[in-house]
Amino acid sequence: MTTDAKILSALRENADGVSGAQLAEQLKISRAAIWSRIEELRSLGYEIQAGPHFGYRLVGEPDALHADDLLARLGKTKIIGRDIRVFEQTTSTNDVIEKLARDGVKEGVVVFAESQTKGRGRLGRKWISPNRKGLWFSILLRPDMRPQETTQLTVASATALRRAIVSETKLQPEIKWPNDILIGGKKVAGILTELSAELDKVRHVILGIGVDVNLDAAELSADLKKIATSLKIESSEKISRAELATAILRELDFDYGRICAGKFSAVADEWEEHCTTIGRNVTVQIGDRKIRGRAESLDDDGALLLRTEHGHIERIIGGDVALEK
Ligand code: BTN
Repeated sequence: MTTDAKILSALRENADGVSGAQLAEQLKISRAAIWSRIEELRSLGYEIQAGPHFGYRLVGEPDALHADDLLARLGKTKIIGRDIRVFEQTTSTNDVIEKLARDGVKEGVVVFAESQTKGRGRLGRKWISPNRKGLWFSILLRPDMRPQETTQLTVASATALRRAIVSETKLQPEIKWPNDILIGGKKVAGILTELSAELDKVRHVILGIGVDVNLDAAELSADLKKIATSLKIESSEKISRAELATAILRELDFDYGRICAGKFSAVADEWEEHCTTIGRNVTVQIGDRKIRGRAESLDDDGALLLRTEHGHIERIIGGDVALEK
């Protein structure tokens, strides 16, 4: 953890204040160095009061993501979030991770962007990523698995995202196969999994996650309003992006641990419990092909098992699923 992250953690643990001497002792640096870090944090928008009786006190936080702050809030995780980087703007955070992957960076690194100029969604769609309105981030993973098993990671990301939203808001999101998070039938978050693999072994996986957090209804186009929403629109409350981001990373770390330990069935059970797709009649569009049937369950790799109109089982690993009324 960096010095700034340690200072922020100490300030949060001591809401009534902590003295410069205590901080200096705890961090093993001089009081002058503490003062200069506090000044730096203030310049980033942290409101830190100083007084002779209480020392330093954190009274306000900026609505911006800072790597040190996210690390301090997150604390220790096994893999996901050991390294966090925040950019003001990127093309797509998946592109930044792709480059880090090629440079040999360890798995678990997370890249957030306050805005993306070329955010992308599944099936070549555009992903709108306005400045500071959502969480636009990607994670590098290097799992020991076969390419066809990586759907497990998408399924796990959806369960983790759902739990984090439940813990940070009063909302009850649902999952639509494979990776959409919906509230009241409208999409609030999505996951784009990109893969680099040899025939039977994954080199790395990029999990790209987009959550519409604080967008207002006026910021969604008329077309988008019919199918998408934000956590703020649904809860009528502004959400702390930093708190939600750390809750998501914590839950993802937990689910990645379950997958790596071979416990996908526990993740799949949780996914099925909250999934609106299972048990419904659906139409799956894969390129030009349309398949109709009843979504029955997930298989061991996370693929959707569809009982078609003709009575046989189709294994679906991609495409667009539309729920029938
Ligand atoms: C989808 O539902 O179609 C997936 C959307 C994924 C969007 C995120 S935002 C962060 C990351 N960078 C991107 O360009 N896409 C993903």
